[in-house]
Amino acid sequence: MAEGVRAAATVGEAARYGSLLLAHALRRPREWIVAHPEERLSEEQRAMFAGLCERRGAGEPIAYILGNAGFYGREFFVNGDVLIPRPETEHLVDEAIAFVKRRRGAVSVLDVGAGSGAIACSIAAETAAVVVGTDISETAIAVAHQNARRLNVADRCAFVHGDLAEPVHGRRFGAIVANLPYVPRGDLPAAPDPLSFEPRVALDGGSDGLATYARLVPQLPPLLESGGLLLLEAAPPTIGRLQRMLQSAFPRYAIEQKHDYAGLPRYLKAVI
Ligand SMILES: C[S@@+](CC[C@H](N)C(=O)[O-])C[C@H]1O[C@@H](n2cnc3c(N)ncnc32)[C@H](O)[C@@H]1O
Repeated sequence: MAEGVRAAATVGEAARYGSLLLAHALRRPREWIVAHPEERLSEEQRAMFAGLCERRGAGEPIAYILGNAGFYGREFFVNGDVLIPRPETEHLVDEAIAFVKRRRGAVSVLDVGAGSGAIACSIAAETAAVVVGTDISETAIAVAHQNARRLNVADRCAFVHGDLAEPVHGRRFGAIVANLPYVPRGDLPAAPDPLSFEPRVALDGGSDGLATYARLVPQLPPLLESGGLLLLEAAPPTIGRLQRMLQSAFPRYAIEQKHDYAGLPRYLKAVI
């Protein structure tokens, strides 16, 4: 437990992590632990609990240890091959869902850099949209497939391996969303920072943080149906530059900066 506590900043965090890890080691819900304080741990359970605490103590995010992350009211399977979905991305999902619901008829949605499938599966689960996700990481694609099956949206959610929008070349979509890597390479932290456990390909946005978006933006105009919606998540310090990039690719579109829970500009919304 001491190792697990080392990664926690507060007593509350230590208590929460401790009970989550113990529940995981015992394969029981947390409520069971509270209701059974007299229950004895087997040797195997003690070793398992100690191992989990050690991983947490080394800085590994709790979501990877538990293999689970909550996003938009659902539980997603996650492992070290995918970014842990972030609460700030839920705003972009809200916006995509509202757009799909407003449109009459079936809407097709493209999610570039789908990772765990958090965005794509949430849109599919909340609407009748047909969603295609792409990712450069084959192992991330496998996780996204797993989540689509877990959330019963595999019939309307396809995930394809490839670079940016290359796998869907020649197709058109009513909405395109992307949360591509946007951390400037020089800002990528080293272990034991929790970010260092996430895949570099999910974070590394090149020297200025916009290298991947700079390749994506010119691919977008032929992919978007007339009157379609574009949503791109970015880092607050570089969002202005991304906005200018997007404006020159879509001169007739109104492009707005939208804010996250912390009030920071977090994604761009482009509509005609
Ligand atoms: C910031 S993560 C976002 C994952 C997921 N969309 C989410 O919001 O949780 C970026 C994702 O983009 C993928 N990616 C990076 N470069 C890519 C490229 N050139 N083509 C397609 N996907 C890419 C990474 O593998 C990673 O899964």
